[in-house]
Amino acid sequence: MIFNLEEYIMDKSKQGIKIENGVVIKTHTNKENLNNEIEIVKKYGRYVKVPKILDISEHNITYELINGTSAMSNTDYGVTRDLIEELAIFHSLFRKNRSSVLYRDAITSNSIISEQVIYQIDFSSSNRLVHCFDDLALLVNPNWNQAIPDDFITDYLIQREKFDSKFGLDEKLRELTDYKSIIRNMSQFCEPAFEEEIDKVSFSEIRRKDYIVFNKFREYRAEFYKNLWGISNDSQNK
Ligand SMILES: Nc1ncnc2c1ncn2[C@@H]1O[C@H](COP(=O)(O)OP(=O)(O)O)[C@@H](O)[C@H]1O
Ligand SMILES: [Mg+2]
Repeated sequence: MIFNLEEYIMDKSKQGIKIENGVVIKTHTNKENLNNEIEIVKKYGRYVKVPKILDISEHNITYELINGTSAMSNTDYGVTRDLIEELAIFHSLFRKNRSSVLYRDAITSNSIISEQVIYQIDFSSSNRLVHCFDDLALLVNPNWNQAIPDDFITDYLIQREKFDSKFGLDEKLRELTDYKSIIRNMSQFCEPAFEEEIDKVSFSEIRRKDYIVFNKFREYRAEFYKNLWGISNDSQNK
């Protein structure tokens, strides 16, 4: 079995969520983060399926529990296209410039397929801006042994064109992620010149060639996490 980074990430991030009595309770210690999540769910939920919010209290948001399968093990190109479309909608709704967008945390475990309908879940990490191709690389990277990024990028760009023409700017956005300090933090996994590659990326325009940089960024990051959580290289080949 191939090591699955996403499954591993999921295991490590169970804090703050409880599934009981047919509902999902997400806990926030920070009120601003809680309000942020509610706002995102309401806005995005006008365009894609999200779990219904059943209750809100000072620290908790209670959601309906969706019975279905995580999109994590998906290798169906049609489903991936749908996920890309929904990602493009998210980015269009929460963008600063063309390419700097609110982080969707587009990892496939954050989508559940229930009776052929995709539900988008987990907005708790959407508190900062990233490059849109970083999220796209996160979405498509772990799913395919033979990546076909050209098609994925084309699909993404088509959807962005559709939505960006309809929707305006959302100025209520957060700080742009400091990629350079992330790279410094995991420098042992990056080529020395990688920081310069990030420097050359455009955060105001979407340029196809920038995808390659973020695809690489995600690969480095996967290595970094594997090391951080103490997974030996052997387990990748199990
Ligand atoms: N509304 C929901 N319906 C069904 N399963 C859910 C729901 N919300 C979360 N889950 C399950 O719990 C897991 C973790 O929840 P998630 O919201 O992604 O939190 P985090 O990744 O921050 O721990 C999800 O991957 C999913 O399997
Ligand atoms: Mg999640």
